[in-house]
Amino acid sequence: MKIANLFPLAIGQDTINLDEAERLLLVNEINKMRARELEVNKSSYAWTGDTKGHEFLFQNDLFKNLAKKISHTVIKYLKTLEINTDLLDIYYQRSWATFTEELQQINFHTHSQSNISFAYYLLKPANSGGIIFKSNQQQNEIAKNIFTESKIEKSLINKANVYNSDKSFFDLAQDSIVIFPSKTPHATTPNKSKSIRISISGDITIMLKDSSGFEHIMPNFNHWTKF
Ligand SMILES: [Fe+2]
Repeated sequence: MKIANLFPLAIGQDTINLDEAERLLLVNEINKMRARELEVNKSSYAWTGDTKGHEFLFQNDLFKNLAKKISHTVIKYLKTLEINTDLLDIYYQRSWATFTEELQQINFHTHSQSNISFAYYLLKPANSGGIIFKSNQQQNEIAKNIFTESKIEKSLINKANVYNSDKSFFDLAQDSIVIFPSKTPHATTPNKSKSIRISISGDITIMLKDSSGFEHIMPNFNHWTKF
């Protein structure tokens, strides 16, 4: 039987090709940021710069070249969705580093205040964990909870596949970037290496250059009126 795969979630993947000397420089900068913290992070949750006062990383000149490279990839992603980027102003709204030590991870969350989000793997040793995406909608859930793990254990479901799974795991190489709609729930898996994983994450906002005739896309903030 032929199956048509309708309405796929587009997860963009690309390689950034950062110079290794530059990578070292950026890793050192993030290590310094992290070292300024007085407390040692003994929790199972990774250190994330956005909640530690380092949420505008791309304002740092050292990260400008990386920001530029990432913006090319984001444009490619938008073009895949057939969005006419000529009509848009696109902004990095926030950008920050995540610092994941042994056995640390990040639980499922969304970035509800933005349009597109990304994670770039600045430092990613083998077995240091990947990213999991979760579906907001299980298209083929013909009976409530029929595809939960316990149904596999009870042999009601033979095995997980793309039609019955609501989660997908990506373990990309260092220097890769993953781009996705900000509303997509995602988490990271525990770092099972002895080495640190560093990613650069960011949230992107799109707005119309000229919103006349449009109803739902954000109008340009140049026309907003402050209280
Ligand atoms: Fe995230």
